[in-house]
Amino acid sequence: MEAVVLHGGQGTRLRPLTHTGPKQLLKVAGKPVSHWVIDHLRNNGIRDVVVILGDNTPMRVVEYYGDGSKFDVRIRYVYQGRARGLADAVYRVRDVVGDRFLVYLGDNLVLHDLRPLMEFRGSASVMLAKVPNPNRFGVAVIREGRIVRLVEKPKEPISDLALVGVYAFDREIFDVIENLKPSWRGELEITDAIQGLVDRGRTVEYSIIDGWWKDTGTPEDILEANMTLLDRYVQRELQGEVEGRVEGRVTLLPGSKVVNSVVRGPAFVGRNTVIRDSFVGPYTSLGDNCEVLGAEVQNSVILDNVKLHQVSIADSLVGQNSVISREDRVQRAHRIVVGENSWLSL
Ligand code: G1P
Repeated sequence: MEAVVLHGGQGTRLRPLTHTGPKQLLKVAGKPVSHWVIDHLRNNGIRDVVVILGDNTPMRVVEYYGDGSKFDVRIRYVYQGRARGLADAVYRVRDVVGDRFLVYLGDNLVLHDLRPLMEFRGSASVMLAKVPNPNRFGVAVIREGRIVRLVEKPKEPISDLALVGVYAFDREIFDVIENLKPSWRGELEITDAIQGLVDRGRTVEYSIIDGWWKDTGTPEDILEANMTLLDRYVQRELQGEVEGRVEGRVTLLPGSKVVNSVVRGPAFVGRNTVIRDSFVGPYTSLGDNCEVLGAEVQNSVILDNVKLHQVSIADSLVGQNSVISREDRVQRAHRIVVGENSWLSL
């Protein structure tokens, strides 16, 4: 069975971080969000992956994943170009996939067992989760154990069961998409396509999942995902040099150094990053080639090539190649979301 992993969308709510790359490549707990997706697929026995590229710097995705061999999967690419909706993206794979396939939104983190979804017998199968804010999702209405209606971003409170971004389909979905009309926002919605199957009298199976999953659309979502993934997956693995204190579950990749500092886990430190005279607190992910000098950082995602000099930051998301420094030494915590190539002097 193949899995189709979507990499489209403009990532507007994550700007400016998404001006230079798709949101699915933002690194959380040391790996791009869609890398977590591909690992999850492989751990569920799926090794054949079709990546659908959008028009936001698609080459970045190809550069990262290549043919998939480094990730122990086979990856093929299909170019969607300008986003015309998730159903339009799915339609593009009609010549590439077999009779049954999964569709996984590359910005969703779903840590659940995928086998119930993969073993479906109807025309489609979906995962649902109770959410407090159903108007942000597609939702399903269930009556007598069957899905009877699906609505994208409902204005009325018709259901609090959101569609999680992982779906299983047979080829009938392509017939439905051929006849689909764009929604009010001008997109071919995957939710409407599934409604099309229901209208044809087909069975859409579902499972209701408990526990954590995330559609990583906003900076807050990225920070929450970082916290959860560090909590669950980071190991104590010190491959760099330590001349300070490293407490608890901390991964320190080769070439990185901790000097006269405290790093408290769970935390992730990429390659060739220097932490000197600093405190790196729990739930922090630092990218590659960063410099943390005389600084404090906690509960934050710091991407590659960032310099933090004499500052104290918390609950923050800092894009690549940024410099955040302070002239005087008065410590005060700031809360910031900073894009790539930024320069802050606080
Ligand atoms: C998309 C789908 C929505 C689904 C959600 C899950 O929404 O359109 O039906 O519930 O993903 O993450 P988007 O995040 O593109 O607004």
